[in-house]
Amino acid sequence: MCHMANTEGSISSVLSEKRMFHPNPEFSESATVKSMSEYERLYHSAEEDPLKYWASIASNFHWFKKWDTVMEWNEPHSKWFVGGETNLCYNAIDVHVNTWRKNKAAIIWEGEEGEQLTLTYLQLHREVSKFANVLKRRGVEKGDRVAIYMGMTPELVIAVLACARIGAVHNVIFGGFSANAVAERINDSHAKMLVTADGAVRRGKTVNLKDVVDEALVETPSIQNVIVHQRTKQDIHFQDGRDHWWHDLMGLASEYCPAESLDSEHPLFILYTSGSTGKPKGILHTTGGYMTHAGNSFKHVFDIKEQDIYWCSADVGWITGHSYIIYGPLINGATVLLYEGAPNYPQWDRFWDMIQRHKVTIFYTAPTAIRAFIRAGDEWVTKHDLSSLRLLGTVGEPINPEAWMWYHKFIGKEKCPIVDTWWQTETGGIMISPLPGATPTKPGTATRPLPGILVDVVHKDGTSCKPNEGGFLVVKHPWPSMLRTIYGDDERYKKTYWSEVDGMYFTGDGARKDEDGYIWIMGRVDDVVNISGHRLGTSEVESALVSHDAVAEAAVVSRPDDLKGNALVAFVTLKEEFEGDQKLRVELRDHVSKEIGPIAKPDDIRWAEALPKTRSGKIMRRLLREMATSKEVKGDMTTLEDFSVLEKLRQEEEKSHEENSK
Ligand code: WTA
Repeated sequence: MCHMANTEGSISSVLSEKRMFHPNPEFSESATVKSMSEYERLYHSAEEDPLKYWASIASNFHWFKKWDTVMEWNEPHSKWFVGGETNLCYNAIDVHVNTWRKNKAAIIWEGEEGEQLTLTYLQLHREVSKFANVLKRRGVEKGDRVAIYMGMTPELVIAVLACARIGAVHNVIFGGFSANAVAERINDSHAKMLVTADGAVRRGKTVNLKDVVDEALVETPSIQNVIVHQRTKQDIHFQDGRDHWWHDLMGLASEYCPAESLDSEHPLFILYTSGSTGKPKGILHTTGGYMTHAGNSFKHVFDIKEQDIYWCSADVGWITGHSYIIYGPLINGATVLLYEGAPNYPQWDRFWDMIQRHKVTIFYTAPTAIRAFIRAGDEWVTKHDLSSLRLLGTVGEPINPEAWMWYHKFIGKEKCPIVDTWWQTETGGIMISPLPGATPTKPGTATRPLPGILVDVVHKDGTSCKPNEGGFLVVKHPWPSMLRTIYGDDERYKKTYWSEVDGMYFTGDGARKDEDGYIWIMGRVDDVVNISGHRLGTSEVESALVSHDAVAEAAVVSRPDDLKGNALVAFVTLKEEFEGDQKLRVELRDHVSKEIGPIAKPDDIRWAEALPKTRSGKIMRRLLREMATSKEVKGDMTTLEDFSVLEKLRQEEEKSHEENSK
């Protein structure tokens, strides 16, 4: 491979993965890390002595009491900054309120209809302190779980930070989830309190959050109080004694609430994410280690400067929102733009219009959004002045080189570095990413790991793969923001992450490392798929399908999709008395939407008289995946029990194809 520097890449040869883009010298000059040699130096010193490195990073933050031991490792459990005491809310707000930053905008919120609200650090401090008192008044104590189910409003951020302030454990549930999904997450975490809103605003319509909550709460005995923020002013059912208006309680609350001094390992939050078996996993993060990496990675990857306006278009309901809308930016005293609504409301230039109006300097989004913008047409972009932008980022799935080039050319005007950031709910913060002032980028790769993060691509036996040889992406040394366990299921934690490759954290991703040490993610090796940047377990969708009366058995696989990254294909075997027709297809898709949420709706449903299975009865998803992708099955079939099953599926596939595209 040749590595010619090429900074004027033209869109036409996007499929060449060999081109490299060097950071522009002006950017590098003022960057936190200015060159590749500086990165190498940092990386190698951290690699030699990771604990020394992390201790030096952690000492940049405020601790009520300094730690005694940097890390205790009892495989596969780590404890960081043991004996230390701190508070994340204090580090995100109070430290700034004591400086000139008190009047700096912490959050600039824009509602979908264009409403504007700015909260300075001082104002945010007051609101968070008040809400922390509200929680305490309603019986929430240190260690209690608080579920939060809201749209993207400042109150969501306030609720999260208020929990952190008093040591309550937040469990944010994405506002697009259904009643069943909400109930499941509340019950698994035994949440005592739920914070929600009457409704949320999305694409010009209201989402009836409180109706969903009322349905969910029938099955959640642990919830004692519900606090309802009034966002849409729609009519809702209100249960006296249980439900309380946010504004009523805030009106009575004192604005004095000191941040609790918490043990470094005090649980901070639980966030549910999909795994390869049915039940979602409650990923548990704790205080001191998470703070250290979220704060430090934000500073380096986004090269944050005092005057930046930073915008991450993710939802707070996902890990990206936790680490890079709330904690990372606020720890660094940044100004965060928070947007409530859809990217195409009222039309496809909403984001570019916002960037122009707010003079956004750093923009962080998902490849799936970029692909949707490409489809919508360049004219939506070109009519806006995006010259305020200086840095772009992506997260959530591999970015295809075409999308990368478009982002580079149309949004970044060929001058903004792009940071393609690889990480997971479990890792708490960014693990692999360019440093924008240092790392030459190649479209499609997240490049190199951050200092202190020891990743590798290995074979099943743990030996390193050769350059460009595919293998498992693993982390070889504990890092401060690693998940501590799966809430309530430590066995599953050990099994999922620590039993695939001996002594290493298994990410679930396949990858290869090129000759420059750049890591190319090849996608999941388990049954987790990425749909529009949202992570879903195919088995969750299968369970939802099977819970419908007509369904005997279902297997769900993914196939590549231009827009969404992946699309879901469901192979469904019906019970005898049911007929597979278009009406049932619609019904099943609605059913999945009700069970999990609209993001999980299968794109295609194919009727299968039987599913291909191994002799031991395991569904051969690999064959189905090949069938869904290429219509042809070539791989190893020696373990297949009944070959006629495949032939029948093939015939069915022709028919389904027509019907699904209707
Ligand atoms: C995928 C999102 C390629 C990957 C922060 C990972 C990526 C999963 C990238 C985690 C990237 C995330 N390039 N793939 N830059 N970022 N992924 O937990 O498969 O929602 O394991 O966290 O998304 O998804 P999660």
